[in-house]
Amino acid sequence: MNEIVLSIQKLTKQFGDITVVNNLSLAIPHGEVFGLIGSNGAGKTTTIKMLTTLLKPTSGTAFIAGFDILKHPADVRRSIGYVPQLLSADGSLTGYENLLIFAKLYDIPRSERKKRIDEAFSLMDLTDAKDRFVKNYSGGMIRRLEIAQAVLHKPSVLFLDEPTVGLDPVARQSVWNQIELLKEGGTTIILTTHYMEEADFLCTRIAILNKGILVVEGIPDELKASLKKKNATLDDVFSHYAEGIIETGGTFRDISRTRRTASRLG
Ligand SMILES: Nc1ncnc2c1ncn2[C@@H]1O[C@H](COP(=O)(O)OP(=O)(O)O)[C@@H](O)[C@H]1O
Ligand SMILES: [Mg+2]
Repeated sequence: MNEIVLSIQKLTKQFGDITVVNNLSLAIPHGEVFGLIGSNGAGKTTTIKMLTTLLKPTSGTAFIAGFDILKHPADVRRSIGYVPQLLSADGSLTGYENLLIFAKLYDIPRSERKKRIDEAFSLMDLTDAKDRFVKNYSGGMIRRLEIAQAVLHKPSVLFLDEPTVGLDPVARQSVWNQIELLKEGGTTIILTTHYMEEADFLCTRIAILNKGILVVEGIPDELKASLKKKNATLDDVFSHYAEGIIETGGTFRDISRTRRTASRLG
């Protein structure tokens, strides 16, 4: 097994009386695309915010590339890239200008900036769009630009919080392709999603969270096989382990069926 780059140790977050992340422990080896899976409110974003040093845990800790998030947050921040759930690119600037801000933020030496920015555009398949205003980008292009921003300093671990939420299938595929390329380049990726097709397509391992508690962890195909049901899907795995009642009502399976019907209709 590869070296562990992310070790989460009894990580817990309480807001008032409510425990949102409950005693979470995980060891994630180098080179994985690790999916944190769960319904809305499961605690995925809170977990990512603690790991990226933006939110202080109530108890427990984590080590990223050997650095303790509590004791060495600056070293952790240098070792990671983060694409938040909400928009992090500036529409009034060009793609190039957005990346230049991040190049400065990450202290990339002036003499290397242009080369690194051009490499990031090329990796995310955005070279032709680099001088356009981001407000004219499609949703998929904006997401890819945000990923380019987050990998400029070549982080060892990249965090993607719901990378394709709200994207149409074509845009989603374009983001998936670029994530695959990053994985081939050796970046360890931690992503959250509530789309099972996404987890199945991208993730080498997944962990299912339900109300802040880790319910199961493993390789998607092995989890499917564990159900002893013919042609089990990751939806089946999710329903089996998480009994995912989404806040809007209905089971996860109902919702994903509705979505599939909706996308067939246009
Ligand atoms: N700052 C906060 N104060 C109080 N409750 C919060 C705060 N942030 C998140 N929560 C609650 O924690 C739970 C988990 O939220 P979150 O981590 O965003 O879930 P997810 O990303 O899986 O949808 C939710 O019930 C949410 O309302
Ligand atoms: Mg979230």
